[in-house]
Amino acid sequence: MNYIGSKLKLSSWIQEEIKKVVGNDLSNKVFCDMFAGTGIIGRSFKREVKQVISNDLEYYSYVLNKNYIENHQEIEDKEKYIKELNNLSLIDTGFIYQNYCMGSGSGRQYFSDENGKKIDSIRVKIREWRENRKISDNLYYFLLTSLIESADKIANTASVYGAFLKHIKKSASKNLILKSSNFIKNSNSHQVFNKDSNELIQKISGDILYLDPPYNQRQYSANYHILNTITLYDNFIPKGKTGLREYNRSNYCKKSEVHNNFEDLIKNAKFEYIFLSYNNEGLMSEPDIKNIMKKYGIYSLEKKDYQRFKADKTENRNHKIDKTFEYLHILKKV
Ligand SMILES: C[S@@+](CC[C@H](N)C(=O)[O-])C[C@H]1O[C@@H](n2cnc3c(N)ncnc32)[C@H](O)[C@@H]1O
Repeated sequence: MNYIGSKLKLSSWIQEEIKKVVGNDLSNKVFCDMFAGTGIIGRSFKREVKQVISNDLEYYSYVLNKNYIENHQEIEDKEKYIKELNNLSLIDTGFIYQNYCMGSGSGRQYFSDENGKKIDSIRVKIREWRENRKISDNLYYFLLTSLIESADKIANTASVYGAFLKHIKKSASKNLILKSSNFIKNSNSHQVFNKDSNELIQKISGDILYLDPPYNQRQYSANYHILNTITLYDNFIPKGKTGLREYNRSNYCKKSEVHNNFEDLIKNAKFEYIFLSYNNEGLMSEPDIKNIMKKYGIYSLEKKDYQRFKADKTENRNHKIDKTFEYLHILKKV
């Protein structure tokens, strides 16, 4: 998924830096990915550590991580279910088609009409299977992850769901094909939460705490509201031109709250090592972070040049390259 702040391209660097500090053998360590998003960092440590604890405030992220992190043993017949979902007859009464496609008269165009109907048909069937206890929780989260990732590929947006495009773009005109979102299999069990970080930190402990909070005012809940709607599949009245639902407002996206929240998180963390990813354009400056962290132990900093791809809002077909710095702030708590 093309996700704001994704660490996909930085994951090997982050893993290298963590190993430099903690050591190469992590097999007895509990690793927490507190702001997990797509789960890519938790995934990259899943084979290496005793346990991954994964958390995110957003429900779609919880679903992704329930599949990618918590699922760790083979699920029987999962491809049979994917095949059946790909061959359903389409319905036009579902929530996505009715509220987010042009053909229903909603005035919104997040998906082509066909794809909106297919998302609904699949989502309704998954719900029915779950209600009739035909599928396990493991299979449920695997199928939902497969749906949101496949739907995201054919969404008619520039990159996030803050707005839709006036005309159906080329990738959005392709038919949705449900593809399996395969997870790493291993013998350890893992835990996934859907909580505010500052609440969860009071309840857990471990060895390595990896923090990747939002670094600016853009709320993930508003930018990915459609993914929450597909996964929750609840009933509400979509608001305004973009069809927003009620959304979470993270304190890490508020200039007035972020410093206090961050300090509270560091103070309450029962982890020996803390690593924070943040970039040079964030709401907290490099000295702000250093001053907070060094109160609680031995602090150091690693830096990397990073070329990220940024959606160009004026010309939706292009993505421009944008150079920034990525920081990894390191704390050994004492
Ligand atoms: C920079 S992204 C993380 C990206 C992730 N490392 C990846 O590579 O996909 C920040 C994440 O923090 C989550 N978030 C924001 N505020 C939060 C909070 N108070 N508690 C937990 N998660 C939060 C957002 O939903 C978002 O997924």
